[in-house]
Amino acid sequence: MSTITQDRLSDYSLVGKDTVRAIERGLAEATWYSSPVAKEKMRELLQRRDGPAIRDTLLWFALIIGSGYAGYILWRSGSWWALLAFACYGVLYGSTSDSRWHESGHGTAFKTDWMNNLLYEIASFMVMRESTLWRWSHTRHHSDTIIVGRDPEIAVPRPPELLGVALKFIGLKAMVNYFRQIVLHSVGRLTAAQKTFIPESEYGKVIVRARIYVLIYALVIGLALYSRSILPLLLLGLPNLYGAWLMTVYGLTQHAGLAENVLDHRLNCRTVYMNAIHRYLYWNMNYHVEHHMFPLVPYHHLSRLHALVKADMPRPYTGLLDAWREIIPAILRQAKDPSYYVQRTLPTPTLASSASPAHVFTAKGNPVNGWLEVCASAFLKVEDVIRFDHDDQTFAIYRLADSTLYATDGLCTHGKAHLAGGLVKGRLIECPKHNGRFDIIDGSPQRQPACVGLRTYKVREHDGKIFIDLGPV
Ligand code: FES
Repeated sequence: MSTITQDRLSDYSLVGKDTVRAIERGLAEATWYSSPVAKEKMRELLQRRDGPAIRDTLLWFALIIGSGYAGYILWRSGSWWALLAFACYGVLYGSTSDSRWHESGHGTAFKTDWMNNLLYEIASFMVMRESTLWRWSHTRHHSDTIIVGRDPEIAVPRPPELLGVALKFIGLKAMVNYFRQIVLHSVGRLTAAQKTFIPESEYGKVIVRARIYVLIYALVIGLALYSRSILPLLLLGLPNLYGAWLMTVYGLTQHAGLAENVLDHRLNCRTVYMNAIHRYLYWNMNYHVEHHMFPLVPYHHLSRLHALVKADMPRPYTGLLDAWREIIPAILRQAKDPSYYVQRTLPTPTLASSASPAHVFTAKGNPVNGWLEVCASAFLKVEDVIRFDHDDQTFAIYRLADSTLYATDGLCTHGKAHLAGGLVKGRLIECPKHNGRFDIIDGSPQRQPACVGLRTYKVREHDGKIFIDLGPV
């Protein structure tokens, strides 16, 4: 370590020299590589359902409550079997809440929004992540995955602090940080780094939730003191220490040891094959390249997505062991040489994979009375959206379920993603990058992180063709 000069070290803070560098190099809010998937196939994969997540979530709660109750009864009866029951409970509570937090935070676990939001709040509390703060933190993680100075969720900065990595398996550092943060947030103090990714309008929510968390933990500690028993803490709080190990076993396979500052998720994420039990516990986040490339696809469709894009991916890892055989030596080597990273080999692009993934329509001829011809009507199916470019502007044109046509700006106001790659849900368009939503009819923002509305445009259908008027509505 003594041979590494300070100047060569990366600055992982969100307000330092690497933040400036990332912006200057065009790595912030950049356009990422996307494997080509036929539009019809993608429309199928994007469809949400409540059924799979309701089934999986009910089973999950049953397992948690069952193992927790067994632990409680066995502990009180003085049986050593209580340790086994709590070992199961701790992993279910402290580790598998991570993937539930993640999927419901994306809003893709269930079709019904309130179910996503409810599970998100519960799982955030369980995994000790402040729900509002982490919603925004994860949005940034998806915009700027493993971009140094921009991504607040880089799990293993280089050079890795080996003791810190080891402590992740017992969640100690995360817990200390969490309690420090919720106390600070409960009195309204956010850090400069947090203010770079949380909009000011959200500060109130951060503070309210922090106060609720502090209150709950104060009650649990009070109950433990009053009853002179560790049982309340074994059920709530301590599982994030004794049950956190599986979250780290899964979680570090996502990015640890891979490239930083690249704009291709195939180079900085891993897809790891896992058996059905692991995939249930991890909610298919083992398909991590696919998830980052297409975050709108629900967890229960990720294996189908993987089959579609596999030929365009680097070799998937055959299992957890295969991944960890790479991660451990990489971390050890990075401790001595922070410039080292695992280089993934990308497949040679085939004709299909080098083709443009999204069709772009451009104007046909000059405007007639302000109307520009876009395309034949047949190109825009019901509940679908197409991209139309004119001069240096881009637009999204939609056909709703009742066949009515609408048009808006084509770029999301949050992170400039093309809305034509998103999902039409009723009268809403969901952005493909962070799942923000807009009302197609009036352009208003309907789901964060989208906060600023879109302009709308007149569009009509005539003689089997679609036309747009780019003047103000
Ligand atoms: S780019 Fe972030 S919600 Fe659209």
